[in-house]
Amino acid sequence: MKNIVLIGFMGVGKGSIAREVVKKSSFVALDTDDIIESMENRKIKTIFAEEGEKYFRSLERKVARWLKKNVEGTLISTGGGFYKVPNIKKIGTVVLLHAPFETIYNRILEHPEADKKLAKRPLFQDIEKARALYEERLPLYLKAADIVIDVRDKNVPKIANEILKKVKR
Ligand code: S3P
Repeated sequence: MKNIVLIGFMGVGKGSIAREVVKKSSFVALDTDDIIESMENRKIKTIFAEEGEKYFRSLERKVARWLKKNVEGTLISTGGGFYKVPNIKKIGTVVLLHAPFETIYNRILEHPEADKKLAKRPLFQDIEKARALYEERLPLYLKAADIVIDVRDKNVPKIANEILKKVKR
């Protein structure tokens, strides 16, 4: 069975949506940021601070090669920049979780642990820089995706159902 690869901007809800899909199906989930943190035994934030973004991106590409060769039938959630790895569609069906920047930013701010959510994301330290990154990436996310799911004004169970319905077709 093919993998499902969830892509989308930081804070759009890839993690919570992945957990809901797992609850509703026989899928088991992997998360590329979690794989990288366990490979390195340090947090993403620390990897960025100690080694820089370029090194982090090389780890993402290494994980992508490993997933392509070794993983199937799995729901893979990814970091917001993972869409850039070469041939992402060869890993599985790529599902973009899409919402406007303001929706994403408000979703983070509404979280009871908003400070923590922002602090762990080195590329979300400055809202204007994050917005520019979003604008720059949007066409590239759309290009990388096989399926686009608009997550605006939908709850997590509804989004999970939509993903399962669309990938089955
Ligand atoms: C990144 C997103 C993060 C993490 C890293 C870089 C990005 O993942 O991989 O901080 O480039 O958008 P989330 O999308 O889970 O925040």
